[in-house]
Amino acid sequence: MRLQLSTWQEVEAYLGRSKGIIMPVGSTEQHGPNGLIGTDAICPETIADGVAAKGDILVGPTLSIGMAQHHMAFAGTITYRPSTFIAVLKDVIGSLERHGFERIYFLNGHGGNIATITTAFSEIYAERSMAGEKGVLRCRLANWFAGRRTKQLARELYGDSEGRHATPSEVSVSYYAHPESVKQAQMEPKVAPVGEIRDALDYRRQFPDGRIGSDPSLASVEDGRRLFEASVEDVAEDYAAFLAEG
Ligand code: NI
Repeated sequence: MRLQLSTWQEVEAYLGRSKGIIMPVGSTEQHGPNGLIGTDAICPETIADGVAAKGDILVGPTLSIGMAQHHMAFAGTITYRPSTFIAVLKDVIGSLERHGFERIYFLNGHGGNIATITTAFSEIYAERSMAGEKGVLRCRLANWFAGRRTKQLARELYGDSEGRHATPSEVSVSYYAHPESVKQAQMEPKVAPVGEIRDALDYRRQFPDGRIGSDPSLASVEDGRRLFEASVEDVAEDYAAFLAEG
């Protein structure tokens, strides 16, 4: 069940059955020569819909802009500053809390978001704690690519060519979601270099085509289907455990 495709009456009725919601969160940033700029948002959104299809689960609107400053030397990237992103998360969480949501599960598609999302949770908990409020709100950050089944399948499919950015696994899942947008591109070198991430100009100097350590020419719609199914299982299990926590 999607929030965006529901009426307020349907959401009110849902809150009588569940206090949980899945919020996909991603980024709008370059993903190398054959990866879609929306990859990090498309993957968690698609997987969240897959999880929701398994039960009475509400999925909120995708937060599709995140922390992407180090990709800003590549056309099309859009970023928040950390302070902006924290403010956005606080307002989104505060709105959901106002309606009675108590378990907010952020399904993330971008490693660069982790520190800022975690900080936003800490800000919110600190505010509630200092106000002496009874802590009923609980937020969780989960990465679609970090579950046991998903990691194992990515390792089997790509080994060391998975890399760190513009990975064949995320490109595959985005192709599964949007087969009409599959791209072909030459990769030179076949596996991209690795190194530390600093600012945007340094990133482009070190990683000229945008990839880090990966060979996304291995990506395919069929791999994307398998990774999608693995991640849906991982996330469904983790979300159920989150709701069941005492
Ligand atoms: Ni990505």
